[in-house]
Amino acid sequence: MSVSDEMQETIKEMVDGQRGILAADESTGTITKRLNAVGVESTEENRRWYRSMLLHTPDVGRYICGVIFYEETLGQKDDNGKPLPQVAAEQGIVPGIKVDKGKDELPGGGGDMITFGLDGLAERLAGYKEQGARFAKWREVYPISDHNPTRLGLESNAEMLARYAKVCQSLGVVPIVEPETLIDGDHTMARAAEVDEQVWHEVFHALHKHGVVLEHMILKPSMVTPGKETGKASPEEVAEATLRILKRTVPAAVPSINFLSGGQTPEEATANLNALNQLKGNAPWQLSLSYGRALQEPAQHAWAGDNSQLDQAQQAFLERARLNSLAVQAKYSPSEESAA
Ligand code: 13P
Repeated sequence: MSVSDEMQETIKEMVDGQRGILAADESTGTITKRLNAVGVESTEENRRWYRSMLLHTPDVGRYICGVIFYEETLGQKDDNGKPLPQVAAEQGIVPGIKVDKGKDELPGGGGDMITFGLDGLAERLAGYKEQGARFAKWREVYPISDHNPTRLGLESNAEMLARYAKVCQSLGVVPIVEPETLIDGDHTMARAAEVDEQVWHEVFHALHKHGVVLEHMILKPSMVTPGKETGKASPEEVAEATLRILKRTVPAAVPSINFLSGGQTPEEATANLNALNQLKGNAPWQLSLSYGRALQEPAQHAWAGDNSQLDQAQQAFLERARLNSLAVQAKYSPSEESAA
């Protein structure tokens, strides 16, 4: 199969108008924070057990089409010695891999950030592909303030995303392009909308310059929301602003937009996604999810390090995945929450 056919096949499996992507690619530092928050020590064995438990959730492939692994997990096995990418694939879930190596301050960027990991990326990706990964993810992070992101930040981050995406596509791996504008701070919704428009415009300009095939990628943006110190906007307000800016900046050739949850609660993230799909009208892309926290928090609380709670943790995960699948189809109602 040509690399183009390979990517087309992956897109076909991952874009079906119903399912979302599980972001289980927290770096060791981030998963340690999440596990400690529910009283669990972050050992390699606990991380393996927990992520294996999620992937073994009966029927979860009805609601989840892809999983983003962290490098450590890609090489781990379940209790029966089956590699976790194979466990995912047998559930109908396409395995993927986070390939960036984290972020730091962008020198000269006035508080903007930049992500590392391009050196040796093609070699690493070829190895991940052998382990079963069919798509990849790279995240650039943009703080929002009166003067961030700067022009240098906008251009440098977009360039990184485009270079990463082009390397992925040369190997037949579908790139998830993730420009995350942070919810941290006291910015208004209008300021978030202004920044997201600049970010997405710059990202697609760079993707075009580098010859990235838009039909064979997935965009993973933040929703347009006010800063977390500013207060909340309603799902309808979030949906209206997000769709307005997406329509200005994202070409119709992109098959799917899978939002991150970025600090929204599980209920907010589901309600906002549902409103987006209710307001979507004839917008050309699938609007779905690639949530980390908003998909996993209920399962982490149900588990809390007690492996005898496996059924409860899997049920909590399955229910959150089901509600989000309803939101992809614009069929979710908050009254579904109490039915859980
Ligand atoms: P959250 O949904 O928790 O923001 O995680 C998604 C993700 O992959 C961030 O890179």
